[in-house]
Amino acid sequence: MAKDKEKNKQVTVKMPLVEALVNFLHSKHISFHTPGHLGFGASTSIKKLLGHQLFQADLTELEGLDSLHEPTGPIQQAQALAAQAWGSDQSYFLVNGSTSGVQAMLLATCAPGDVVLLARNSHRSVIHGLVLSGAIPVWLEPDWNDYLGTAEGVSLASMEKALAANPQAKALCLVYPTYYGQVDDLEATIKLAHQKGLTVLVDSAHGSHFAYHPQLPDCAVALGADLVVHSAHKTLSALTQGAILHRKGQRVDSQRLAQALRMVQTSSPSYPVMASLDAARAQMVTEGYAGLENVYQQAQALRQKLLSTAYTWVEYPDWTRWTIALEGSGFALETWLALQHNLHAELVSWNHVVFLTSYCTPKTHSEQLLYALEHYPLPAGQPMYRPTALPKIGAQACSPREAYFAANEAVLWKEAVGRISAYSVEPYPPGIPVLLPGEVISQEALDYLEAVSQAGGTLSGGMAAGYLRVVVEKC
Ligand SMILES: Cc1ncc(COP(=O)(O)O)c(C=O)c1O
Repeated sequence: MAKDKEKNKQVTVKMPLVEALVNFLHSKHISFHTPGHLGFGASTSIKKLLGHQLFQADLTELEGLDSLHEPTGPIQQAQALAAQAWGSDQSYFLVNGSTSGVQAMLLATCAPGDVVLLARNSHRSVIHGLVLSGAIPVWLEPDWNDYLGTAEGVSLASMEKALAANPQAKALCLVYPTYYGQVDDLEATIKLAHQKGLTVLVDSAHGSHFAYHPQLPDCAVALGADLVVHSAHKTLSALTQGAILHRKGQRVDSQRLAQALRMVQTSSPSYPVMASLDAARAQMVTEGYAGLENVYQQAQALRQKLLSTAYTWVEYPDWTRWTIALEGSGFALETWLALQHNLHAELVSWNHVVFLTSYCTPKTHSEQLLYALEHYPLPAGQPMYRPTALPKIGAQACSPREAYFAANEAVLWKEAVGRISAYSVEPYPPGIPVLLPGEVISQEALDYLEAVSQAGGTLSGGMAAGYLRVVVEKC
């Protein structure tokens, strides 16, 4: 792992997959293979937008370019370098985001009927992984941040209780960090879970960069998790959809994991996405510390400056996420920043906005953000948005898989109380389901969804145009 800056400096930059693509392109090959644009045939307008080189590099499994699902050449080498960089035993490139990694983690470790302990603030990809695998969830309630109305993490005490109450559980699946940059005592949790024989799966979609700065929380791989998924496209320079799944130790069968990845990933993986993963790793190993240190300094400066304003800087261990709260609507602030300053945030909720920074955020961006915030005309009478806490998960009438496969119908959401939700329903972002497939719909859950919608949030999943998808008969 490359957490200290001296190591950052010494590493030779090898990018086997990037180099293989460059060599292949220099060979001026004649294409009788996919993709249909043959490297040069796309329309001029799209080539102008994306650059003709992107199409040239958009290749497939050709001589010398290896194969994602059976790697023996540059992809294998690039993945091995990723394993070295993050400290895993084996790392796998993902071309369908952490979503595919989360699904593969569950498919590789749980059989239908197996019990898995899950943080209630899991992303919807976890729910879809439950539908695919047939695993039965036992939900762990996280602690709440009443000021923001957000989940913080599952305490060690709750974890101990859940482990004692569910001795049959096969796996534990956690979010580390949360969308806001909060982390649990993951090391202690992993130890506890391992003592009880559970496999630990960590959705670290937002934590790819942790390995590269000592003042960030430790990387989940270093803390002993069995499987960890990183959305390298979220906080590193990988192209969107580029993610990495890491395996460490012997608890997970590598053959079954590879098979699960073949199930959830395309058989035509994007070479630009995979090459960008190779390059993002090399970049973090060599320049990650310096870039993150720059952001650390910016975060400290902005936090200091906001002390004398009406905003509240909400402190989280991941200081690359800037959560800024106000006595007013986060949605109104976010819209104003976008319309008036062309400044676009990562996440908005009741009374706060989350700004994502990364190793390459320039100082001018934080200066522009401060300038804009200082000029926001906070209306004197704007109502204080009292965050509503996510309702507790309701009774589960059937498993997510049974609910998904049961016949369903659309009912007016106001008439859905007492019915069984067919799909998940979640405000997006952050994509944390309020209703789960198989859950008995409560008035509390509907009130929460209505409150999100009225505050300006976007709902996704089994709710459309005022209708909810519910199971027709008992599943
Ligand atoms: C906690 C968490 N896990 C998984 C995902 C899915 O990641 P991806 O968009 O890379 O598929 C997200 C996406 O926002 C997320 O927030």
